[in-house]
Amino acid sequence: MDKLIAGQVVTYHGNPFEIPAEEAVQVLTDAAILIRDGHVVSIGGRDHMRAKHQEAAFFDHGPALIVPGFIDAHAHYPQTAMIASWGKRLIDWLNTYTFPEEAKFADPAYARDIAGRYLDLLLANGTTTVTSFCTIHPGSVDALFEAAEDRGMRIVAGKTCMDRDTAPAFLRDTAKAAYDESKALIGRWHEKGRATYAITPRFSPTSTPAQLDALGKLWDEYPSCLMQTHLSEQLDEIEWVKGLYPEARDYLDTYEQFGLVREGALFGHAIHLEPREIAHLKAMDCSLIHCPTSNTFIGSGLFDMGARKGEGLRVGLATDTGGGSSFSMLRTMAAAYEIGQLSHTAIHPAQLLWLATYGSAEALHMQDKIGCIAPGMEADFAVIDLASTPAIAQRAIRAETIWEEVFPTIMMGDDRAIVASYVMGERAAV
Ligand code: GUN
Ligand code: ZN
Repeated sequence: MDKLIAGQVVTYHGNPFEIPAEEAVQVLTDAAILIRDGHVVSIGGRDHMRAKHQEAAFFDHGPALIVPGFIDAHAHYPQTAMIASWGKRLIDWLNTYTFPEEAKFADPAYARDIAGRYLDLLLANGTTTVTSFCTIHPGSVDALFEAAEDRGMRIVAGKTCMDRDTAPAFLRDTAKAAYDESKALIGRWHEKGRATYAITPRFSPTSTPAQLDALGKLWDEYPSCLMQTHLSEQLDEIEWVKGLYPEARDYLDTYEQFGLVREGALFGHAIHLEPREIAHLKAMDCSLIHCPTSNTFIGSGLFDMGARKGEGLRVGLATDTGGGSSFSMLRTMAAAYEIGQLSHTAIHPAQLLWLATYGSAEALHMQDKIGCIAPGMEADFAVIDLASTPAIAQRAIRAETIWEEVFPTIMMGDDRAIVASYVMGERAAV
């Protein structure tokens, strides 16, 4: 049966980093979206659409804002239970908190429990697509893909590969196991329904050159997969990489040598880049994934959004759960704004919304399926109450423009602002 979902609908008409943000991103008041078979058919005025499609089931969200479902372009679902762990920086944070927690995913029942809980948290926060690392255990990958399939969610994930003695022995595979297990998982999950497989070396410090080489060869065999990893997150990490790969020109080169720098590569963080790295990332049309709550929480540094968008790079937005301190893409947009301010770039609320949806979709090469509300797109939406708390409501009521009304929810909103999440046109149970 057709469905009409009504509210204030956000639509995109260009790139808000290339044309004025308020031209690129528009809000249609009193609008309705017609949905058939999980896809958007058309968008129009509420009354007109209702009169024209009387047979459709009607769901009215009143003045709430209907945006494309948020797309979290980099997360670690196995870190759900240790989010907000105190007092460490990247390398000792990994050793103290992360690796012991990830070891628990050897138990498939534990992995299934966290995977389901994690995706429900995402839906409660308006996030309908996530790109996640798993652990070295293939069962952790099956658990996440299965949980996403149960919920009808679009998902990108892969087995985290780490075989170097810099990682603890209880959390290491080998170059061959990484290749064989990733290949078997690609066969099971890649392009099955809404699933995409991402070949996933954790980062060059925890892989041997032999493992990176094996994963580069695997990508040659399955070029429609994505590849996700980390790049230049902290200065200590970059020094560590120099010691481990003395022959490499820079951090990016440790991936480049093994065929891992090409279109479809997603580099988490990418804060402290050399000019050569920026030029090569651009030339190869790679995606940078900005993780602002993580960058402040772990003390990593300031991603220069203004410069990277000015250079025309693909940039997605992400929580980096659990280095990031929130599951909420609203909170993530607020942190991106704050980091922008520290680099003298005031990111417009329309740009923030676009980054959390279309920007992430572009980073994942999925902008023809998700990330905007337009005919033919998959009907994944978040419905947002712009007055979800007394503090936000008293500010929003004074707003003279829609963006002045939206901005307090971006800065102060959380899961209480999410009225509903729709996945392929179905309202998610959260
Ligand atoms: N670099 C390598 N692994 C990780 C991780 O799990 N989180 C973050 N923030 N950075 C990483
Ligand atoms: Zn990460």
